[in-house]
Amino acid sequence: MPSEDAAPQLDVDQILADPGVRIIVCCGAGGVGKTTTAAALALRAAEQHGRRTVVLTIDPARRLAQSLGLTELDNTPRQVKGIDVEASGGELHAMMLDMKRTFDDVVLQHTDPAKAAEIFANPFYQAMSSTFAGTQEYMAMEKLGQLHARGEWDLIVVDTPPSRSALDFLDAPARLSRFLDGRMLRLLLAPARSGGRSMFSLVTASFGMFSKVVQKVLGAQLLTDLSGFVAALDSMFGGFRQRAEQTYRILQARETAFVLVAAPEPDAVREAAYFAGRLREEKMPLAGLVLNRVHRPAAPELDAEQSRAAAERLTELGGHEATADVLRAHAALARQAVREQQVAARFTEAFPAVPAVSVTAQPADVHDVDGLRTIGAAISRP
Ligand SMILES: Nc1ncnc2c1ncn2[C@@H]1O[C@H](COP(=O)(O)OP(=O)(O)OP(=O)(O)O)[C@@H](O)[C@H]1O
Ligand SMILES: [Mg+2]
Repeated sequence: MPSEDAAPQLDVDQILADPGVRIIVCCGAGGVGKTTTAAALALRAAEQHGRRTVVLTIDPARRLAQSLGLTELDNTPRQVKGIDVEASGGELHAMMLDMKRTFDDVVLQHTDPAKAAEIFANPFYQAMSSTFAGTQEYMAMEKLGQLHARGEWDLIVVDTPPSRSALDFLDAPARLSRFLDGRMLRLLLAPARSGGRSMFSLVTASFGMFSKVVQKVLGAQLLTDLSGFVAALDSMFGGFRQRAEQTYRILQARETAFVLVAAPEPDAVREAAYFAGRLREEKMPLAGLVLNRVHRPAAPELDAEQSRAAAERLTELGGHEATADVLRAHAALARQAVREQQVAARFTEAFPAVPAVSVTAQPADVHDVDGLRTIGAAISRP
């Protein structure tokens, strides 16, 4: 029978206790438990290993955010109160990523206040900073870079955005660069570089027919806004790219550990395998796989077939319906557990050296500190 046991066991406590590990990035497909895992690991690092830890969460569920004391997006870490750190001396701080504020901060750092104000007022900037695909991923990296640069933390645990694909997180900086570097934008920008006259007249003059058409379609104001936006961003572009490259290097460093989260379902495991392959290509350190929400029958020694047969026998005998029902439920759970192991085995076959650990599905959602502690313990002592 294929089994996830074939993979080496992921020792999360060893990672959390290692002072050389300064960054943990939790990634995986949408909805698999990235935010939960990130918060659980951070809590455990503080409570069990005495580390001064910050967790950067992204779009946490409201109840989870509340139980971490996060009532608003304020883009700075807040210390989580009421956790058990007396013995360990650790600390847990938590924050929710405010994508727009992070973008604004980047702009402010790269330009003077007057120019920044102009950029903030630009409708293209407003749209891009709050909705552009990839902005959230990019800003998560930016924020990680900022937290890291301050050097205040023993350990930074990063959650990644609820993207469809886990790879979006790694691709975002390149995609944003491509956008900012895009040909159409370069073209629009070219006249502005030749200096002197107003941007708009230069753009119109050099584009001739094309720009007249664009003007008709977009309207003159919009074209002005777009050129202004592009020119402004262009002046900061080197800064953007440099920072993204810096963060990329941090992600490749030995102080970083990627923790891949997957549900024991074909899509999520496939996604995890793509991501693991990509990390290998990028030489980014993958610590292991957390297989989250697995089902484990209470009596694993009783297999599905035996259990089903016993239920049928009891039904034939009559008078033992309740016991027969329990046996049938057990049989269904045992079958599901086998299916999940088979799905997980696909990852292990492709990446036999990557350590893995399974976390049992809890009876209810995880939305408070106790729940996170339970998950943290389950990740560490499967
Ligand atoms: N082991 C578990 N047992 C029971 N419920 C769990 C478990 N892990 C996570 N959950 C629940 O599953 C839901 C999704 O988890 P979570 O928000 O951590 O996923 P995510 O990967 O961050 O999702 P998204 O991609 O949307 O950001 C939450 O309601 C969480 O409480
Ligand atoms: Mg999440």
